[in-house]
Amino acid sequence: MAGSWDQYAQDRTPRRARNAAGASTWFNWTQYPDHGPSLEVLNLSPGARVLDLGCGKGGNLARVCTEGHRGVGVDVSALQVAHARTRWPHLALVLGDAVTYLDGGEEPIDATYSVFGAHWFVEPDLLLPAVHRRLRGVLAFSYAP
Ligand SMILES: C[S@@+](CC[C@H](N)C(=O)[O-])C[C@H]1O[C@@H](n2cnc3c(N)ncnc32)[C@H](O)[C@@H]1O
Repeated sequence: MAGSWDQYAQDRTPRRARNAAGASTWFNWTQYPDHGPSLEVLNLSPGARVLDLGCGKGGNLARVCTEGHRGVGVDVSALQVAHARTRWPHLALVLGDAVTYLDGGEEPIDATYSVFGAHWFVEPDLLLPAVHRRLRGVLAFSYAP
């Protein structure tokens, strides 16, 4: 599975340097550029601990950290994580499976999200209990369309 996502990472055009508003980091919940809500969906307090499940090249996580939150991104694709590390070296990134990451820790998470990420591709019977065990706040996810 990780190999397929590496292929996807190779084929996919990276996010633009700036969006239509001129911002260098921004949140995108949909497949349409410059469309939809931002982080308000997550109802975060300042400095919240936020988890991106299937963070890909890290574009959304970069926005989370720009707003001063403590973001962590998890992704199974080594190539996706490598792209994210190159573009945003300050991000906290973990190479691995979402359920394995959640099961492997105890620290509470204030909010978690997934944009076309693990919540689209992992069996909900496995992922949702793992999220529930760690989560204190909002879970939000999107997938096309
Ligand atoms: C369609 S991409 C979306 C990436 C990113 N969220 C975005 O909006 O650009 C799906 C991502 O989910 C990751 N992924 C799929 N299954 C996963 C799993 N079980 N655990 C962690 N990441 C996973 C893939 O490696 C890939 O980077």
